[in-house]
Amino acid sequence: MLKNTLTYFVLLFNLIQCLLTEINGVSPILAFKPTLRHLHAATVIDDKLYILSGMDDTIGGIVGGTQFFYLNVSAPFNTKMPLYWHDLTSKNIVPPQIGVTAVKGGADNNTLILYGGRNLTSIESKALVYAYDTQGNAWHIPTISGENYIKRRSLTAVVDYQGKVYLFGGKLLEFDSFVNDMITLDTINFRWGKGSSTNAPTSRINYGATLLPNQNIIYIGGGNSLNESLPLDEVFIYDTNNNNWSTKKTSGLIPSNRYGLTAVLGLDGEQVIVYGGLGNKNIIINPEESLYTLNINTFEWSIPKITGNIPSCRYMHRANVIGNYMESVIT
Ligand SMILES: *[C@@H]1O[C@H](CO)[C@@H](O)[C@H](O)[C@H]1NC(C)=O
Ligand SMILES: *[C@@H]1O[C@H](CO)[C@@H](O)[C@H](O)[C@H]1NC(C)=O
Ligand SMILES: *[C@@H]1O[C@H](CO)[C@@H](O)[C@H](O)[C@H]1NC(C)=O
Ligand SMILES: *[C@@H]1O[C@H](CO)[C@@H](O)[C@H](O)[C@H]1NC(C)=O
Ligand SMILES: *[C@@H]1O[C@H](CO)[C@@H](O)[C@H](O)[C@H]1NC(C)=O
Repeated sequence: MLKNTLTYFVLLFNLIQCLLTEINGVSPILAFKPTLRHLHAATVIDDKLYILSGMDDTIGGIVGGTQFFYLNVSAPFNTKMPLYWHDLTSKNIVPPQIGVTAVKGGADNNTLILYGGRNLTSIESKALVYAYDTQGNAWHIPTISGENYIKRRSLTAVVDYQGKVYLFGGKLLEFDSFVNDMITLDTINFRWGKGSSTNAPTSRINYGATLLPNQNIIYIGGGNSLNESLPLDEVFIYDTNNNNWSTKKTSGLIPSNRYGLTAVLGLDGEQVIVYGGLGNKNIIINPEESLYTLNINTFEWSIPKITGNIPSCRYMHRANVIGNYMESVIT
């Protein structure tokens, strides 16, 4: 009897110890659990993946995400190993918004710069930009010089190597209209500017965009004001050095029209990895057609060979490259 009790106790003790064992500084049972969401912001700064805002899909109805949290990715990890979230919600001053976009900026590359979005509560945020200092762990609303442009949503911010953010297109919050102009924000001196609209792509939202090694930005797909998803047989290049646009015809296995997709630069610097999205009339894309690569020298599309179970296609997600992995964060 005593032996049994002792065995039981030892087992229980081991179990408790297991549950309390810290992995990356957090115990599994005490770990913070993010709610489901889409149209949020997800940005990597100094080995931390910060996530906030978007639509909270756990609660049902149209509810804004109030959580703010990060994943510590400094420890080595793989796809089988659990990683734990760290909660920063008590520090959050950003009201629940959808269609926000965020980049890493500031003089030392350690400020989370959040732009745009639409309110999901009666509190409408007039602030265009919120900045989170990841060293001081505090948000503030920066004072920005230059002309203030009307707040936009559902666009993808891209930052260059000089801390300048490029904000193309999106939907104007006040007039509910789609635009195709390029505004810029210097995140070091906090100054607005305007890029070129000559030969710009047509007005669009929820496109994929990423910075290429030659400091050009590539823009892919998106949706227009008629709720149509746009074709990927051409892509658009914004040259940040000369502030001009060009259009490239693509070839190969051209993906079907899609919006709510993501684009990231592959580690070889030669391929853009395009993932997810919704088809025309909100058609769900087959998992087998959810991931493509575009060679940025030949503009030829391919479907890479992938092993393992292909997850169902996500849309209105965010993607980041962390080490060797492309993290597609929550639907
Ligand atoms: C992140 O993880 C690393 C490695 O496990 C650890 O040394 C570090 O303290 C963690 N940092 C934070 C802020 O959680
Ligand atoms: C956002 O705020 C405006 C006014 O501040 C309000 O009219 C609108 O209904 C709000 N939107 C939502 C979804 O609550
Ligand atoms: C910020 O990061 C970019 C690369 O993303 C780099 O080119 C630049 O030198 C960095 N700036 C500073 C001040 O570290
Ligand atoms: C697009 O879809 C939205 C939401 O479903 C709807 O309110 C709007 O009327 C649609 N617009 C057009 C032009 O079909
Ligand atoms: C962009 O500007 C540069 C420098 O003026 C020029 O060489 C290049 O041809 C221009 N590209 C386009 C597409 O106009």
